[in-house]
Amino acid sequence: MVRKKNKSSVVTVIGIGYVGLPLAAVISRKGYETYGLDLNKKAVDLVNKKISPFKDEFVKKVLKESSLKATTDAKVLLKSDTIIVCVPTPVDTRHLPDFKPLKGAVESVLGNFKKGVLVVIESTINPGVCDEIILPMFDKKGLKVGKDFFLAHCPERINPGDAKWNVSNIPRCVGGVTNKCLKKALNFYKSAIDAKITPMKSIKEAEATKTIENAFRDVNIAFVNELAKSFDKMGIDLDDVIKGAATKPFAFMPHYPGCGVGGHCIPVDPYYLIEKARKVGFEHDFLKLARRINTGMPRYAVKVLATELNEIEKSVKGTKIGVLGVSYKANIDDKRDAPFFAIKKELLERKAKIEIFDPYIPSESTVKSLEKLLTKAEVLLLVTAHKDFKAITPKICKQKGIKLVIDGRNFFDKEAFLKEGIRYKGIGR
Ligand SMILES: NC(=O)c1ccc[n+]([C@@H]2O[C@H](COP(=O)([O-])OP(=O)(O)OC[C@H]3O[C@@H](n4cnc5c(N)ncnc54)[C@H](O)[C@@H]3O)[C@@H](O)[C@H]2O)c1
Repeated sequence: MVRKKNKSSVVTVIGIGYVGLPLAAVISRKGYETYGLDLNKKAVDLVNKKISPFKDEFVKKVLKESSLKATTDAKVLLKSDTIIVCVPTPVDTRHLPDFKPLKGAVESVLGNFKKGVLVVIESTINPGVCDEIILPMFDKKGLKVGKDFFLAHCPERINPGDAKWNVSNIPRCVGGVTNKCLKKALNFYKSAIDAKITPMKSIKEAEATKTIENAFRDVNIAFVNELAKSFDKMGIDLDDVIKGAATKPFAFMPHYPGCGVGGHCIPVDPYYLIEKARKVGFEHDFLKLARRINTGMPRYAVKVLATELNEIEKSVKGTKIGVLGVSYKANIDDKRDAPFFAIKKELLERKAKIEIFDPYIPSESTVKSLEKLLTKAEVLLLVTAHKDFKAITPKICKQKGIKLVIDGRNFFDKEAFLKEGIRYKGIGR
């Protein structure tokens, strides 16, 4: 069902990727005349046909229910009362923040400026970006914040592929440069999404909120990854231990080890905080260590594979290894910064014969079906816990002659594999 326009103001979302597209569709569904502005013409054309450029059940649904129009023409900003910026904030090869897409989006706003516009940055940024990078760009044009335009930050918390939490029901924090900026942003978000919106005392605190949320995850995952390596040596099953610790009803939050952290957020955002702190004279040793541990996990997974192969008198070199999964997390087709790539590189350097299958990413797959991969492989290495891989049972592995399963996500039933006489090793399990 496509909703009719019932709100007078016009909204444009700049950047209709994993974050901007569901958001724009949700805003449109609420009755705002909504546009998605993007440089990517292919994505724009697909969205105008109500097709999501990426696989996502929520986006598919909400896009059908919306009247969102996509465009590559920045002139749409001239008629927009609210502009939400959802462009990428990546790091460069030296892990330094790359603000080019963000500055590009702000340039588009300035080149098509409408007096009184509310500009909200949803892209993930470190504390200080709005004050030190974005405001000076407006200043240069003689535009006064709180008078000519209003600037706020509402960090995005979307978790693509999550069946429960989506852009409409995830609570948010908002910060504004001035009280009026904050008030305008609060009013807008209260009308556009269905979750609780918490005002922050400053835009800097809003920026810092998102950065610590993702650094928190990176540090905790690094902690369990380190435990996995230690417990592998001690012969303790960390998965069982985490289940035990999680029975404590307070002050313990389970995190799980794995063959690597990927995506656009967790392996990227801590660098924004690290770099900002370094510039003001503080070294975030803890965050840097977490990054180092998590970046090392793909190599660790291959080392575990090599050790297990040695036990059955085989080597990585020449063994036919079936790699299960490419995307950085389960049940989505996003391969940005996926640990798969480091694992693949390591396996090829060690001269393994690899076959790859990801039902969500055919472009990286070397076989067309799981069945084909299972027929070709001697050993399995699970990289992504796609639900589709639940079809791999110990019985099937036995029929196919698979001797060893390395479970990079502790996804399979370990006991069931061992019972069937198939060698199994997880990460810390
Ligand atoms: N993907 C996530 O799960 C997630 C979650 C929370 C926050 N974030 C943050 O949200 C932001 C966007 O992430 P994403 O995953 O949606 O990125 P994305 O790459 O999927 O989408 C960004 C879009 O912006 C477009 N773009 C880039 N520069 C542009 C410009 N100057 N003008 C118009 N369009 C432009 C790109 O073509 C692309 O389509 C990032 O800061 C990211 O850290 C992402």
